[in-house]
Amino acid sequence: MRLLPGPAHAAILSSFLLPFLASANTLDCENVRADNTDWTFKALGGPKSVLHSIENTASWTNVTYTIDLCTALKRKNEVSDDQKCPGGTRLCSIERVISKDDQTDVFSNAFPIAGELIDRGGSYLDPRWTRLKTSKLDTDSGKEGVRLEMKGGFKIVDGNKKKQKALVEFVCAKDLEGDENLWDPEDKYVDGNTKREEKAGGEPSLQFVEYDTSGKDEDILELLWKTKHACESTKKEEDEAKKNHWGFFTWFIIIAFLSTATYLIFGSWLNYNRYGARGWDLLPHGDTIRDVPYLFKDWMRRVMNTISGPGTRGGYAAV
Ligand SMILES: *[C@@H]1O[C@H](CO)[C@@H](O)[C@H](O)[C@H]1NC(C)=O
Repeated sequence: MRLLPGPAHAAILSSFLLPFLASANTLDCENVRADNTDWTFKALGGPKSVLHSIENTASWTNVTYTIDLCTALKRKNEVSDDQKCPGGTRLCSIERVISKDDQTDVFSNAFPIAGELIDRGGSYLDPRWTRLKTSKLDTDSGKEGVRLEMKGGFKIVDGNKKKQKALVEFVCAKDLEGDENLWDPEDKYVDGNTKREEKAGGEPSLQFVEYDTSGKDEDILELLWKTKHACESTKKEEDEAKKNHWGFFTWFIIIAFLSTATYLIFGSWLNYNRYGARGWDLLPHGDTIRDVPYLFKDWMRRVMNTISGPGTRGGYAAV
């Protein structure tokens, strides 16, 4: 017996299989798992920026770090290749030098810190998640959240490529969404102006911690992201809410189906016993059901006539 048509089977199968296939090497912001704990960071998707400025004698060096957890960054306007990060970048660094006296703002460098950059001069993103509660690092003790390590980026230093890496620490902050008081950079990205909330007096939810260039082989950028989505209970609560929602919907369908079935079976049984009906006549309203295709055809014809208006063939044109 075949309960479902072929396409339905395929859809159900792939919805089970896809998460396993997709989780291999790419960054999946929706399904984060470390040490048997689940998080979902879909709400933090889209380009989010943080500013780090370094004061020099006559100028500022302002570095904007922009990250998109859910997809590759994409610039809004046409920008020449040497002034932006390559396609596939998830975390981009853009440096500008701002003169202190006349405020002139000069672009100085752009390079990717992390991304899927294997065929763009870098390497694999290679994301790794570490649950802070059970992390072996002393500095993680007492923290709730998860740390993302991602790679792939590179910077040209003295004519040589130096590898880049990012550590983004998502720390539980029950009253923060994660998009509060973010830096609005001059370098615009697609979807860059969505979901940025200003909270007076508050600090940005996404913060610069350190850019460590002391390593011989790689530079490491550390960011801190304060958000309720890092709390270990958030994903569970959301799933619970989703389950209840689906529970209601499923029950509704089941009850509607059972009622219809009961009505048809009981009705047929009545018709059989009372009137000795057979075939179509068994069904309650058998003739109505039989007429449904014709009624539908007739209704469609009326609709088509209304749409195409009078005057065309089949319409009620005045003679
Ligand atoms: C550069 O950084 C300074 C100091 O944080 C800030 O006041 C200024 O608005 C920044 N300018 C630009 C153009 O990014």
